[in-house]
Amino acid sequence: MKSIGVLTSGGDAPGMNAAIRAVVRTGTYYDINVCGVRRGYNGLLHGEIKEMPARSVSEILQRGGTCLMTARCLEFKTPEGIEKAIHIAKVFGLDGLIVIGGDGSFRGAQALSNAGLPTIAMPGTIDNDISCSEYTVGYDTCLNTVKDAVDKIRDTASSHERCSVIEVMGRAAGYIALEAAIACGADVVLIPEKKYDFSEDVLRPILEAKTRGKKHSIVIVAEGIGGVIEMAKDIEMATGIESRATILGHVQRGGSPTVRDRVMASRMGSRCVELLLEGKQNRIVCVRDGKITDVDINEGLNMTKQIPEDMIKLAEKLAI
Ligand code: ADP
Ligand code: F6P
Repeated sequence: MKSIGVLTSGGDAPGMNAAIRAVVRTGTYYDINVCGVRRGYNGLLHGEIKEMPARSVSEILQRGGTCLMTARCLEFKTPEGIEKAIHIAKVFGLDGLIVIGGDGSFRGAQALSNAGLPTIAMPGTIDNDISCSEYTVGYDTCLNTVKDAVDKIRDTASSHERCSVIEVMGRAAGYIALEAAIACGADVVLIPEKKYDFSEDVLRPILEAKTRGKKHSIVIVAEGIGGVIEMAKDIEMATGIESRATILGHVQRGGSPTVRDRVMASRMGSRCVELLLEGKQNRIVCVRDGKITDVDINEGLNMTKQIPEDMIKLAEKLAI
């Protein structure tokens, strides 16, 4: 292994820069050449590949986003796209590739590995929805951003004695919503992993909170449920409590990574390089039982992850 590439793909996540830095610096430490591929798989198809010396990643550890840029690339989902990517990797002398992204990006990494390019994937997404990993880089920073936003919304909801219905990201998963609800003391949390009844699970807790003398209610809704604007109107109509909806949106993807994300990204990024140097390929670097390890990419993509039942129960218990 003399020369390897690194790219970021799919939705960006705070900590991606820390991971890129770890890849570049670990490569330099072991005396191999690291090339940055810009704009995810798009850049691989178009030869947007440039050498990254150790100093090229100075001053990025603390920044959100990704200095390599990221993109979604439909062409990559076709056999022709994969063939072209393998050809370009050969032209640029890449012996291996590190892909930092989410589930979709991992499928691209799997296709590249199967086509003969040693590839290692590492989880970088705010959603924490990678089945084989207990943690994805960007999740902690995102949760802290949500916590700050909900705390602020609580101030105004409380002053106006309103109900605030807040939509958070997470694609089809409810991890962000559930942990944010526990961290922010939400009265109600709705996630796609659990069916809900509007009267029983939304209206009742809001009305009970009012009876107990609570001045406001916080309802956190995962984007996989959606419909917060309508929901706020329905709550107002049914309870008489003035209600407002907020969709937090892309603010959740930005910002300087937390210590947890910087450290996890550094450890995982560095491990990706070591795996390639150990002659391993077709692996996902992940967190299992609290430890950084790796699994076969085919196995990893077939695994399933359950949102912890005890966390759902905890959110319910504490909202009383
Ligand atoms: P994420 O990695 O955050 O889940 P996406 O699902 O948008 O984001 O996937 C990112 C990119 O990964 C896609 O734009 C595409 O280029 C590539 N990709 C996704 N699915 C596949 C697939 N089945 N085969 C090859 N490449 C894929
Ligand atoms: O996967 C990260 C994520 O932010 C999801 O939570 C969300 O569903 C999606 O990406 C939004 O994608 P886009 O940036 O294309 O709007």
